[in-house]
Amino acid sequence: MPLDQQTFTECKIVKAIANRGHRPSPFPEFDDNLNSHNMNKAYAAISAWPHYHPTPLISLDKLADFCGVAAVYYKDESQRLDLKSFKALGGAYAVANLIASKKAEGIDPASITVTTATDGNHGRSVVWGAQQAGCRAEIYIHEHVSQERADAMAALGAKINRITGNYEASLAACKDDAAAHGWHIVSDTSWAGYREMPLDIMAGYSVMGREAIAQMQGAGPSHCFLPIGVGGLAAGIVAPFWQHMGANLGKMIGVESYMSACFLESIEAQTPSLVDISEETLMAGLSCGEISDLAWQILQPSLSHCLSITDDAIAPLMAGFADGVFGGGAIEAGECSTAGLTALVAAKKDPALWQKLGFGPTSVVLLIGTEGATDPGLYDQLITEGRQK
Ligand SMILES: Cc1ncc(COP(=O)(O)O)c(C=O)c1O
Repeated sequence: MPLDQQTFTECKIVKAIANRGHRPSPFPEFDDNLNSHNMNKAYAAISAWPHYHPTPLISLDKLADFCGVAAVYYKDESQRLDLKSFKALGGAYAVANLIASKKAEGIDPASITVTTATDGNHGRSVVWGAQQAGCRAEIYIHEHVSQERADAMAALGAKINRITGNYEASLAACKDDAAAHGWHIVSDTSWAGYREMPLDIMAGYSVMGREAIAQMQGAGPSHCFLPIGVGGLAAGIVAPFWQHMGANLGKMIGVESYMSACFLESIEAQTPSLVDISEETLMAGLSCGEISDLAWQILQPSLSHCLSITDDAIAPLMAGFADGVFGGGAIEAGECSTAGLTALVAAKKDPALWQKLGFGPTSVVLLIGTEGATDPGLYDQLITEGRQK
C-alpha cells in the first residue's frame, strides 16, 4: 500500500477547538496530584519490576515525509509487560502499593479483594497486579466489553461481573458491591474523596513520559497527540513533559472519539462536563463520559487543543501499521492506537487547522500507541477489513 492521500481518505476530525484556559507556565508541582516525588517513586518501583523494560519509540519516517515535519515518533505500548497496553503500568502499581500498606498493618493479602469497573485494559492490569500480590479481584464490565477482553481477565483469576448498560453503570455497580463487601476499589478515575488509587495509577503511567524524554535525548516533542478516555493517560504523559520542559512545553493535543468527547466538551465549558454516551466507539478504551477530576486539574491548564475524530480510519490505519507503511517496520497497533494518527493526518489535510496547530518543517510529533492486539479476534477482523478498503 503506497503512502499517499488515498491511504488517509478515512481520517476525519469532527470538532477542533483551542483551549482558552491554556497558559504556558512552569510545572506547578501539584500538592495533591502528580509531582516530582510521586513520579520518581513510581519510576523507582516499576523500573525494578521483573521483566520491566522501556517500550520502543519508533520513528515513522515515511509518515513524517508525508506530513512535511522533521519527525513523527510512535511510543509503542503493544509489548508493555505482556499485557499489550500502557495500562500495565497503572492498575498493577496501585494494587502493589495497596497490598504493601496492608501487609505493613499485618493483614494477609489473601483476605483482600480489589475491584474495578473497566473497558478491559485497566481491569487486566488490576487483575494482573492482584495475581502478583496474592489477593482476589472482582471485575465489573459493561454490556459492550468484548468477551475476549473478559476472558483475558478471567484467565488471570478474576471473577467477572457483566452489567447491563454503559461504563458508568458498571462503575456504579462496582461501587455498591465494594461498599457492601468491604472491597478495595482500584479505579483509574477519581471522584470527590477518592484520589489515592487514581493518583498512583497516573504516577505509574508517567513512566511512559519519562521513557519518551530519555528516548528523545532529553528534547520534548513540539506536538503530542494524547488519546483521552478518563484522562489519566494524557495527564500521566503531560506531567513529566511539563516538569521537564516548563513553560516551553510543546503543544499537547487531546484526541477523543466524537461519541465520548467529554474532555473537549469540558474545555468548551471550562468546567468538567458529563457526556451521555449513546453510541460506543470501536476505540473501547476511549469510551468514557466523564473526565477524572485529577486528570482535569493537570490537563485543563496544559493542553493547547482538543480534537474529536470518527471511527472510519481505525481499520485502514491498523492495517497500515501492521503492514509497516508509515515507516519503522510492522507495528501491532490496536484500535485506540490509531487515534493520534487519525488526528494528525486529518489536521494535515486541513491547511487552516494545520497552521492553527502550529505545524511546520521543524515539528517533532509524538503519537502514543496505547495498545496492541488487546482483543485478538477484533484485531484480526479489523486488519482484514482495513486491507480491503
Ligand atoms: C488502549 C487505551 N488507550 C487509551 C485509553 C485512555 O486512557 P484514559 O482512560 O486514562 O484517558 C485507554 C483507557 O482505557 C485504553 O485502554
